Amino acid sequence: MMGNTFGKLFKVTTCGESYAGGFRKNLAIPKELYGGLLTIVDGVPPGIKITPDMIQKELDKRKPGQSKLDSPRKEIDKVYIFSGVMEDDLTTGAPVGLVIPNVDIEDIHMDQYRSYKDVVRPGHAEYTFFKKYGDYADWVGAGRASGRETAARVGGGAIAQAVLDTFGIDVIGFVTESHGIKAGPISYEQAKANYRKNELNCPDLEKAEEMIADIIKVKEEGDTCGGVVEIIAKGVPSGLGEPVFDKLNATIAHGIMSIGAIKGLEFGAGFNHAELKGSESNDEPYFDSASGRVRFKTNNSGGFLGGITNGEEIRIRVAVKATPTVSVPQATVNMSKMENTILEPITRRDPSLCPRIYPVCEAMVRIAILDALYMAKAYRGVSNLDPKWDRI
Ligand SMILES: Cc1cc2nc3c(=O)[nH]c(=O)nc-3n(C[C@H](O)[C@H](O)[C@H](O)COP(=O)(O)O)c2cc1C
Repeated sequence: MMGNTFGKLFKVTTCGESYAGGFRKNLAIPKELYGGLLTIVDGVPPGIKITPDMIQKELDKRKPGQSKLDSPRKEIDKVYIFSGVMEDDLTTGAPVGLVIPNVDIEDIHMDQYRSYKDVVRPGHAEYTFFKKYGDYADWVGAGRASGRETAARVGGGAIAQAVLDTFGIDVIGFVTESHGIKAGPISYEQAKANYRKNELNCPDLEKAEEMIADIIKVKEEGDTCGGVVEIIAKGVPSGLGEPVFDKLNATIAHGIMSIGAIKGLEFGAGFNHAELKGSESNDEPYFDSASGRVRFKTNNSGGFLGGITNGEEIRIRVAVKATPTVSVPQATVNMSKMENTILEPITRRDPSLCPRIYPVCEAMVRIAILDALYMAKAYRGVSNLDPKWDRI
């Protein structure tokens, strides 16, 4: 398996699977070391305060079993800092290692997966895993394709945010749509004020109630539903990103599209651009005497021009598909017998992924922005530009 690292200078590497450790339950090993998730964060500057609590706070947003809207799987997602941090919780500049043990790896659940391990679950990555890994494919809880993997990224994102904090950059994610029920437009201030005020983390508190009632209804039918998550990055300076393959919006798209169940993404006015005339779509620049900088009257571009940040809010919308595991019989294929069959799933699941996926989106955006900040600062450091361009 390749591609387990994201970032060029600030790099986050993850390993671990949904039920890692399930096959090593052995008295000779401390149970925290049976298996789970690991994160290695490379490129953390020295002198950054990183406490287990800071990381835990982020992981707790994503962990399952918090409300009737998510999976009852009992993973507590307790994080241990393993390396890179010394006295007074300060980083040394060495790679920061994180360990998140799997604890809910009971045989009863593993055996459930074993009972239909050759039957591909519709909407899951099992057909493609058979294609790539054959008989060795991880069949328990979707392995690396499981949403469980994303806990490790959230750990990396928490460390990225600790560095971004020193630059006054904030990244916030929230839910704005569920199963066709839409929130009104949400400003950064509204998102901050109503952050996590309900189980769905939808800052439109009235619409949130409607969405939650609908998810519960869908859940009672044995089904699941999707929605839309929005992410805002505030305080990002202009000039981050490269103009060709490493456009920062392209890197952010890479990070977000690498999260399971994300099926679409747009920046600013996104797909609405198709309906706008040029004069409507263009964000008109103006000289803002208060800040002494160029600003833009609108933000249809979502904070980018030519792949480089323009100093306005980065605004991203992502489409989240309905959770693949459903309690409705579905047609599929038994891969060992190569015959059509019907699957009646029995495992635990989230009726909507939205309440747990927004922290993962936050993490990927944080990592991408910090990495671009490093590159921009390095490039500026060796560029002989008139300092007047730093002030625009
Ligand atoms: C945080 C998170 C939690 C997830 N939980 C579940 C789950 O409980 N049940 C499920 O069927 N899929 C879950 N998924 C989605 C699957 O991992 C994903 O849809 C599947 O691997 C197929 O990938 P694709 O949808 O990107 O094609 C979760 C994804 C994330 C990011």
